[in-house]
Amino acid sequence: MLALAAATDPAWAPRALGRLGELLVDHAHCEKKAAGTAVQLLFRYPQRAALLAPLSKLAREELVHFEQMLALLAERGLAFGRHRPSPYAGRLRERERNREPERLLDTFLCCALIEARSCERFGLLAEAAEDPTLAGFYRRLLDAEARHHGVYLSLAHSLAPEAEVAARLRELAEHEAAVLADARFSGHLHSGMH
Ligand SMILES: [Fe+2]
Ligand SMILES: [Fe+2]
Repeated sequence: MLALAAATDPAWAPRALGRLGELLVDHAHCEKKAAGTAVQLLFRYPQRAALLAPLSKLAREELVHFEQMLALLAERGLAFGRHRPSPYAGRLRERERNREPERLLDTFLCCALIEARSCERFGLLAEAAEDPTLAGFYRRLLDAEARHHGVYLSLAHSLAPEAEVAARLRELAEHEAAVLADARFSGHLHSGMH
């Protein structure tokens, strides 16, 4: 189960695929950002031995996804360049508390929710895509992001008792759904539809 508080509107995927160039460029940036977030945690918590190997592996996988996206863009003659990101991740992570270890717990849970939303949306894109190559690509990514969701959740469980993790995850999931419903749609993977 993906722990999301609200499902994406089914109309989102056809709308996103209708702006495929924008969606693919944004997606490439999201994979790069996912790798960057994992690497930042390696810098922020060098003393926490339990997170180093799993996050290093996760960052490598996100960079492989990034390279796959670059290849996809090149095949389609689309340029990767500067890009204005969706406010989704930034607004989601505003709810992270300042004091440790709550801060790290919240970071893990926010990352778990971002992975869950990516996974859900890759599933919708895989179903809606008419191009079988693109559909297969989204299906493979979906498996990886589901695994990443599990990695972040198990890291969260290593920090706090089960009931505390579950309660905080529910709160952040509600917040995630509200942020998503509010985010403007402009071909972003993690935006609402308006
Ligand atoms: Fe990824
Ligand atoms: Fe991921």
